[in-house]
Amino acid sequence: MKFSKKAMGIAPSLTLGIDTLSKEMKAQGMDVVSFGVGEPDFDTPDYIKEAAKAAIDRGCTKYTPVPGVMDLRKAIAKRYQQVYGLEYEATGVVVSNGAKQSLFNVFQAILDPGDEVLIISPYWVTYPELVKMANGVPVIVEAKEEDDFQPNIQALEAAVTPNTRAIIINNPSNPCGNVYSKEVLTDIAELAKKYDLVIVADEIYDVLSYQKKIVSIATISEDAKQRTVIINGMSKAYAMTGWRMGYTLSDPALAKVMSSYQSHSTSNPSSVSQYAALAALEGPQDDMDDMIKVFEKRAELIYTLLNDIPGVVCRMPAGAFYVLPNVKSAIGKSYKGTKIENTIQLAELLLKEKLVAVVPGEAFGAMGYMRLSYATSEENIRKGVGRLKEFFAELN
Ligand SMILES: Cc1ncc(COP(=O)(O)O)c(C=O)c1O
Repeated sequence: MKFSKKAMGIAPSLTLGIDTLSKEMKAQGMDVVSFGVGEPDFDTPDYIKEAAKAAIDRGCTKYTPVPGVMDLRKAIAKRYQQVYGLEYEATGVVVSNGAKQSLFNVFQAILDPGDEVLIISPYWVTYPELVKMANGVPVIVEAKEEDDFQPNIQALEAAVTPNTRAIIINNPSNPCGNVYSKEVLTDIAELAKKYDLVIVADEIYDVLSYQKKIVSIATISEDAKQRTVIINGMSKAYAMTGWRMGYTLSDPALAKVMSSYQSHSTSNPSSVSQYAALAALEGPQDDMDDMIKVFEKRAELIYTLLNDIPGVVCRMPAGAFYVLPNVKSAIGKSYKGTKIENTIQLAELLLKEKLVAVVPGEAFGAMGYMRLSYATSEENIRKGVGRLKEFFAELN
């Protein structure tokens, strides 16, 4: 069978690839420590599960309006009003099968063939592929480790061409674990205004900001709000990855186009998940607060342990649940006679030789780094980083 050029141009997700492999190894009885997954290791809180069961019993098991039931859309708009003081119409909210589909809808709605999208690297693995799926062109602009991976505005401006249509920002960031400063967000908002760009603001980790609340770029100015589409969802904040609940907040005109697109692809997201999401947003937020405290403690632990390994340099994460240590010292060295040429090879060796799963920086456009998710127990963090330390000591 012949496959389309578009489909063949899409790279498989390296993060999910590592995860699948480490799960297979675990199933064979191997004691793999996985830092690969991007999902909370907590269970969905009970009150959310109960709400889902009650929704099934009430018969909420049919098609719903494509962009989600109105109560949920209202609750999402209310959340952004309460947390950020942002006013959105409920008709500006579209609920989808995870934030991934929300992002998919956005690019389908705004890109024409050849339109360029600025993506700041290290980036979330899926952004370039989603842009390509919409016949757009990802344009990568590097943010440097010495700038705490905050994007350089001059570099972004230099990458703008007459075809540039949008910029993606992910705050807090996967894989960097950093939070954008208000100054940087203001500069990005001004750049977007100057070149009339859509700002795609992925805030899926917004509650996971340890020191202070993030600044949502839509709060910078009325102009920024008008040109921003916010992406968020229930996966990370409420430990609801499997329920597939993502959403966008935007101008109602864009919401209508995305909803129309969704109506021909997946229709509404799961009715039961929608009622669970509604309960999550309206219910007590204590479980979430406890979860954030646990992540913050783990962030401190993994940061300290990684920096204790000679040859590894790690920045303290400010949000999300990832660290992206610099492991460039290992490139060019050998492990048991195998020369390490890149971080993909390093990750493969770590999995094979030390039973530790990490995601190589190449997945995020950042060779020489590797991403570790600390959505795993303290015990696993100690065990896994202990094995990394052994590995680095055995390099020559
Ligand atoms: C930055 C970022 N955006 C979006 C998503 C998608 O989340 P979901 O589709 O589970 O809502 C993820 C998941 O890993 C992510 O890390």
